[in-house]
Amino acid sequence: MRTVDRAKYDFAIAYPDPASVPAVDLAECARLAILEEGSELAVYPHDHGYPPLREYVAYKMARDRGFTISADDVLLADGSSQPNHILIEALVDPGDVVLTEHFVYSGTLRTLARFQADVRGVPTDENGILPDALESAIVLAESHGRPPKVIYTIPTFQNPMGWTMSIERRKAIIDIALRHQIAIIEDDCYVDLRYEGKTIPSIRSLDDAGVVSYVGSFSKITGPGMRLGYVIPPAELTPRLRPIKSGGGVNQFAAWAIHRYAISHLDEHVKKINDIQRIKRDTMLAALGENLGSVAKWSHPEGGLYTWLEMPADADLTATQPEARTVDVGYQPGPMFAPDGRTGNNYARLCYGYNTPDEIREGIARLAEVFDRKGYLDA
Ligand SMILES: Cc1ncc(COP(=O)(O)O)c(C=O)c1O
Repeated sequence: MRTVDRAKYDFAIAYPDPASVPAVDLAECARLAILEEGSELAVYPHDHGYPPLREYVAYKMARDRGFTISADDVLLADGSSQPNHILIEALVDPGDVVLTEHFVYSGTLRTLARFQADVRGVPTDENGILPDALESAIVLAESHGRPPKVIYTIPTFQNPMGWTMSIERRKAIIDIALRHQIAIIEDDCYVDLRYEGKTIPSIRSLDDAGVVSYVGSFSKITGPGMRLGYVIPPAELTPRLRPIKSGGGVNQFAAWAIHRYAISHLDEHVKKINDIQRIKRDTMLAALGENLGSVAKWSHPEGGLYTWLEMPADADLTATQPEARTVDVGYQPGPMFAPDGRTGNNYARLCYGYNTPDEIREGIARLAEVFDRKGYLDA
């Protein structure tokens, strides 16, 4: 999340396209909201966050994610990081087993480490987590008297691997979680960034029993600087989350601006940024083909901000990262996303959201030169 010390060709962090941040419209929305409701700043906001924005989230879930809730079921928070934090604090005690995709978002791994979770990675393929492997991991933990508490998953445009979990897998995972009584955290913060293919129903929409907490964010569709996201927990979990979200509700300025913006401009904006980011994705995938096609593999994400690069097994992309920085290229090596913190040295996450297409081409060419010098391209 740091903004300092960035490479010019910054494939390390998932920033959206900077030129597309809708600054003028957001400013106008904030101005109108302050004129309409400014005197409300004299009082503390609602504990769950600005009610009209929660109503919008409930409307969006029914329209886009296939489940019906009311505004009272929504808790606004800082991005989707804070919802993940709150859920983990509520659900995980030190030593509890948490299962997740082997390679998963490093921010959540850091939060899990803070709460001393015993995090175990489950293998995946291009359709998501492998149900048999998930079941085996659960049975193994149970056999040691340590039934897993939580399954954390990023089912859509997964960070860092880029795949989207198929509907069959989503159903299988719900089924397994219900049979073994395990809570699911569904982190769906990339779902709006679809560049091709059909939307797949949320895991939450398949949940009749109340095991899934759904997490979303406005970061990827307006800008992470807004720091606004939400969690929709199962009803009985809400009272446990409320006290953990300390400091009152979320910032009213941000909530007002996002609410006005969401009801007037957001759908058009999402279409626009998806057109821009589709081109960036295609540019990066083509540049990988031109420069690394003979030795490497990479994922073809239908949306989101990442592709997952696999170099030959002996390539050490952790050791090579500083050398890439000397030619102004940033990326994140595989072990950053490994629940065990060690595996995946020949993998890297490459984000294509921030740079222009020309910069993406130049950055990948530079990266390939570094890999060439290291001997990684000698097939
Ligand atoms: C899967 C996932 N969850 C949560 C976050 C946190 O983002 P934010 O708090 O800005 O919504 C990120 C950021 O990249 C992410 O990739």
